[in-house]
Amino acid sequence: MTQSPPDAQRWIQETESHVRAQLLGEGSGHDWWHIERVRTNALLIAREEAVDLVVVELAALLHDIADHKFHDGDDTVGPRVARAWLESIGVDEGTIAHVCDIIATLSFKGAGTSSQMRSREGMVVQDADRLDAIGAIGIARTFAYGGHANREIYNPDIPPVQHASFEEYKTNSSPTINHFHEKLLLLKDRMNTRTARRIAEGRHRFMKTFLDQFHREWNGDA
Ligand code: NI
Repeated sequence: MTQSPPDAQRWIQETESHVRAQLLGEGSGHDWWHIERVRTNALLIAREEAVDLVVVELAALLHDIADHKFHDGDDTVGPRVARAWLESIGVDEGTIAHVCDIIATLSFKGAGTSSQMRSREGMVVQDADRLDAIGAIGIARTFAYGGHANREIYNPDIPPVQHASFEEYKTNSSPTINHFHEKLLLLKDRMNTRTARRIAEGRHRFMKTFLDQFHREWNGDA
């Protein structure tokens, strides 16, 4: 673990209040409480890793500050907004560049595309964000987002698609249940760290149980 700069606690506190004010009450599943869970899990995963905890915590706090899903698919907004904020509170350039690189690489871009993190810190934050997309919380967030995006819960006439490109993934409008097959069930095998892989196993099993029950009820035999 690297030594934290003396101002690091202030950066984290100010960033926390800023992000909380921006995202509290947000209704699509990318609200403040998502950020808080990602931060908690990122710090938990980081315990087993030799990483810069300040970079991990700042990146976790800022990772959804301007998600491409809410800016007409523009995935350069997040890192730009994060940089402007971090510069305004006096964070050093090395930390800013690292945090913004993580935010730029973070979002899932479709089943057939890769978003390989360049640093261990990035891998930790990516794992924490992916853990929050699966399990019971993942299910709740997926349907919240589906409603927000005006999607059907399920439509048996529309089969899931494995999106080959980011363009295809971000413009798709398939029912929410398909999202489990297009993204959520793939995440367990994409975890970067051992700790996240272990946590993901249980959450993955829970989603499978949920989907089995969902389809049994859909077919009228449960
Ligand atoms: Ni997120």
